[in-house]
Amino acid sequence: MWKTSLHTSLLCILPCPCLYWGRRRVNMNFLLLFTCLCVTHGQSDVIGSDKPVTVTVGDNAILPCYLEPPFDVRTLTVEWTRDGRFVLVSRHGEDYLDLQDENFRGRTSLFHEERIRGNISLKLTNVTELDAGSYTCFVPRLQSQVRRGFINLTVGEYS
Ligand SMILES: *[C@@H]1O[C@H](CO)[C@@H](O)[C@H](O)[C@H]1NC(C)=O
Ligand SMILES: *[C@@H]1O[C@H](CO)[C@@H](O)[C@H](O)[C@H]1NC(C)=O
Ligand SMILES: *[C@@H]1O[C@H](CO)[C@@H](O)[C@H](O)[C@H]1NC(C)=O
Repeated sequence: MWKTSLHTSLLCILPCPCLYWGRRRVNMNFLLLFTCLCVTHGQSDVIGSDKPVTVTVGDNAILPCYLEPPFDVRTLTVEWTRDGRFVLVSRHGEDYLDLQDENFRGRTSLFHEERIRGNISLKLTNVTELDAGSYTCFVPRLQSQVRRGFINLTVGEYS
């Protein structure tokens, strides 16, 4: 977690030293470091894609979604929905199957090693025509105003 957020934190801390002066130096240092880190954590936006993903029936689909700037989301809740139904819900790295729509049972996963980089792309296997539609990826606990990403899936016939 520290490693991935380090570079964004440094960007944030850099302008801070110009505000340090006199006796307040130490206090300001701590205050600003803390503030900068807190702000940085909430500032990642969730990004989907304007370009639809197109696959053929029976294929696997990867629906892209990621945080920009990159932010470790391994401990955060991630929700994928379509038309208000849950496609995948992950909390603290565990899938919550109770909430999942039956249609998606056993066919969804995240790329767990990628989550450290804020990549929460969804893998959907054995796609059917019923899977076509508008998907939303959502990270509820981000402080950013942009906590949802959108991506459409279109499904073609067998070729
Ligand atoms: C998805 O498709 C709908 C209906 O065609 C369209 O209104 C919407 O803008 C599309 N969304 C994205 C993220 O491409
Ligand atoms: C997210 O991970 C998937 C699967 O490894 C990969 O295809 C995709 O390019 C990654 N996206 C980003 C933004 O790194
Ligand atoms: C893919 O889905 C079809 C129809 O939903 C099913 O008949 C088939 O067994 C599935 N294939 C795999 C590999 O799960």
